[in-house]
Amino acid sequence: MKAKVAKKRSWAEPYKIKMVELLKMTTKEQRKKAIVEAGYNTFLLKSEDVYIDLLTDSGTNAMSDQQWAGLMLGDEAYAGSKNFYHLDDAVKKYYGYKYMIPTHQGRGAENILSKILIKQGDVIPGNMYFTTTRLHQELAGGNFVDVIIDEAHDSTNLHPFKGNIDLKKVEALIKKHGSKKIPYICVATTVNMAGGQPISMENLKALRKLTKAHGIKIILDMTRVAENAYFIKEREKGYENKSIAAIVKETCSYTDGATMSAKKDALVNIGGFLAINDKDVYEEASNMVVVYEGLHTYGGLAGRDMEAMAIGIGESVSDEHMNARIGQVLYLGEKLKEAGIPIVEPIGGHGIFIDAKRFLPHLKQDQFPAQVLAAEIFIDSGVRTMERGIVSAGRNSKGENYYPELELVRLTIPRRVYTQAHMDVIAESIENVYENRNKIKGLKMVYEPKYLRFFQAKFRKL
Ligand code: F0G
Repeated sequence: MKAKVAKKRSWAEPYKIKMVELLKMTTKEQRKKAIVEAGYNTFLLKSEDVYIDLLTDSGTNAMSDQQWAGLMLGDEAYAGSKNFYHLDDAVKKYYGYKYMIPTHQGRGAENILSKILIKQGDVIPGNMYFTTTRLHQELAGGNFVDVIIDEAHDSTNLHPFKGNIDLKKVEALIKKHGSKKIPYICVATTVNMAGGQPISMENLKALRKLTKAHGIKIILDMTRVAENAYFIKEREKGYENKSIAAIVKETCSYTDGATMSAKKDALVNIGGFLAINDKDVYEEASNMVVVYEGLHTYGGLAGRDMEAMAIGIGESVSDEHMNARIGQVLYLGEKLKEAGIPIVEPIGGHGIFIDAKRFLPHLKQDQFPAQVLAAEIFIDSGVRTMERGIVSAGRNSKGENYYPELELVRLTIPRRVYTQAHMDVIAESIENVYENRNKIKGLKMVYEPKYLRFFQAKFRKL
């Protein structure tokens, strides 16, 4: 008798569309003009001129009818808004942290946490840097050290948990600097700069054991914690029958606190928080938030924003939501793979990352292959993506360019915003650009701002 193989069923959106936002359709000529005016930098395009916007998944989510209804329940009191208590309850219920302070977005929480926990000369290990997180650590006097596994730097390596921390690297740091110099380890869920790659529960548990023995805290960058949970459920033994909600809560349980940009996983357009279990740190943070964000019961947010966030957190940990969310990213990634487009693998959680070095092998890295590829995709179809390569990496303290291993174009998928037909259009456009890739010439940088140059740099065609 033949064994019965369960046929894989398609995912579909666990919602229907109630309101739509009309988009402007442009011609190729109009798009060419727009990108030249923007100095070949997709950050300098007007959003109006964009058809499908894959610049970021941050603050670009579609809220549910429940969240929109929540906006009407905004209690805009200066102190003690009831929406603050709803948010506090949601953080306790879904993440399990004892104390929570709202902030205007993720970097607001990073600022406060870094100022409290980091002393001059401290070392902060992390699984690959994120721009704002590292900057706040450095501004507080700390030095970030990358302790992600080596596999994360190779776009073709198929390791299922490329966000994992190399415990040997952490041990070596403890040996070199002593645990007193390491206030905490920053652990990101689905590592953004590595292509949305997850960390396994096994790795996090082992890190907990190691840090406990040395009295070092773990702070979670929980910006994409539910997407990370999806991959644990899919790939890690023992988690296949657990819910996303249970995996999220377990993840948080091995950490001492977290910073959150709710503009991603938590399905809102603005907001974030700092969560912590230590009462003393909480008291200091609730004092400091008054200086930088607002009173500890609003932290720079309107009451209605806290309400939308509280509801969004609950929706974000639903299995149906996450199946459709990652299902859509995978759908696009598989299509591109089938067409032979070189992308970072395994496919990550919040987007597809095209390997521009392999896409445009005739261009040298200082001819900005990822920057020009993002521009060419925009000209072809009005799809806006972003560069994650040599422009984003910037310069070192001596003023020399960093030459990062990964030269990528990020196609970031906003949550609950685009349809499968949009994904088809995106894939067709990239295939078209790929067919004509030999004709693509590099760029020359003609304006370079001092800080975070990728946002505002301008280029000219060679
Ligand atoms: N941590 C991670 C992993 C992030 O991806 C971001 C933002 C932040 C922290 C900072 O949060 O923007 O709310 O202050 N990432 C966005 C992006 C900007 O496009 O990847 P924020």
